Amino acid sequence: AGVRAGAALTAAAVTVSGAAAVAAPGKPGSPRYQAGAPGVGDAYFPYAGNGGYDVGHYDLDLTYTPPGAAPAPLEGEMDAVATIELTATRDLDRFNLDLRGLEATAVTVDGTRLTAVDAPAAGRTVGGPVFWQVQDDDARVWELTVQPRPKLKAGTTVEVVVEYGGTTTRPTDVEGALYGWVTTRDGSLVANEPDGAMTWFPASDHPTDKATFSYEITVPEGKVAVANGLPAAEPVTADGWTTWAWDAPDLQATYLATASVGDFEQLPASQSSSGVPILDFLDTDLGAAGRATSEASLARQPEMIDVFEDLFGDYPFVAYGSIVDDDSLGYALETQTRPVYSRQASEGTVAHELAHQWFGNAVSPQRWQDIWLNEGWATYATWIWNEHRGIRTAQESYDSWYAPARNDAYWALPIGDPGPTGLFAGQVYNRGAATLHALRVEVGDEAFFAGARLWLERYDDSSATSEDFQAVYEEVSGEDLDDFFDTWLYADEKPPATWTTGG
Ligand code: ARG
Ligand code: ZN
Repeated sequence: AGVRAGAALTAAAVTVSGAAAVAAPGKPGSPRYQAGAPGVGDAYFPYAGNGGYDVGHYDLDLTYTPPGAAPAPLEGEMDAVATIELTATRDLDRFNLDLRGLEATAVTVDGTRLTAVDAPAAGRTVGGPVFWQVQDDDARVWELTVQPRPKLKAGTTVEVVVEYGGTTTRPTDVEGALYGWVTTRDGSLVANEPDGAMTWFPASDHPTDKATFSYEITVPEGKVAVANGLPAAEPVTADGWTTWAWDAPDLQATYLATASVGDFEQLPASQSSSGVPILDFLDTDLGAAGRATSEASLARQPEMIDVFEDLFGDYPFVAYGSIVDDDSLGYALETQTRPVYSRQASEGTVAHELAHQWFGNAVSPQRWQDIWLNEGWATYATWIWNEHRGIRTAQESYDSWYAPARNDAYWALPIGDPGPTGLFAGQVYNRGAATLHALRVEVGDEAFFAGARLWLERYDDSSATSEDFQAVYEEVSGEDLDDFFDTWLYADEKPPATWTTGG
């Protein structure tokens, strides 16, 4: 099963409408064992995630060689084994994993070896225990199909082992932004939102399928590999290679996985008042200014955790801390327990990525269109942090967002459905934060913070939609909030001045 760009897509392998396209079991004339859908049915990314099973755990054993002094383009070498524990949620003839740009060379299911075959032509099937891969960069379809024998009965848990590897590059998302396993001169800067996890491991790459993770990352001696969670062992060096082991025992969406490699130095460990251990890693090649700014911002993390725990409840995971790389993605990402920053970590961004641990990570978007629940909350939490620091009140932040004249195009973007190329538009962040401030003014402080805690409790370790969010706030406030959310999330004009007091 070579990685074949533009290979014919079989109907079974890539039915676009996702889970809904697979006939219900027991439907007359339909076979009991069917193909799992190639996507979970997310309207923005039809091939992200997969139907028919739930992943419980990813164990990723990566051996990675950074480009080093080699001339451009920046390319690394990956040689990896993913051990994936998954449970069938229906009777499965075969199922897919997402894998982009790397080649699966061997697959076993519960120890039985499958044979690599070419993707069958449209409408055809192949018998027996086989696997194949389809890679279509133009259509953005990257699927690994695994056909185990015996077939998987609903409820069965199996261990799928995928050996894979190849050359790593600098992949881009649907908007053209760097993401996924971004190869850097000294290692990698790994930030997968929204669907870039598949650029470095075979995944069900959608936030509705959270799993626990463990990592063993082997890199040339002298390099440091930092992943989510806590170190699982002391690094082990042999024959010029060092293996870094990490364990992330909290449920985690694939876009929040990281395994960044570089010339990192660990700062002295610290902790929050509540005892959350904080492990930070700075690239030794940061400029003096980037280093100073980052150190000052990261020193605030314990106090930030205290402030947010007070408002939102216990910090949700086993650890925290940051990675600051000297290469640039053009943004930071809230990778779970261990955000990544490019070149420098400013205080506002550090507060933002920390707030995402509650809003986005503990509770994740069920559809990518719900992204404002991530970015609006993280931005709003920064407004609250700035108030705590005596910089400006949240109301002042709201008013200074509201006051300026903005063009029609700005107001026309519906943050409740911004489209796949609008996920990270400024409006999603700032109108999103303003939506939350207006909601706070609308329902009052008590209901507002009670709603935040109810939301986090109810959907902890899971995912939810804007409709779920509205329902929580109707519950805590006793108000009908249809008009409120229609206006703020979907109206293509500036919301009325009802919630403005200053400005
Ligand atoms: N969630 C990140 C943040 O709030 C931004 C991610 C941007 N991702 C991208 N592929 N452009 O800082
Ligand atoms: Zn954010």
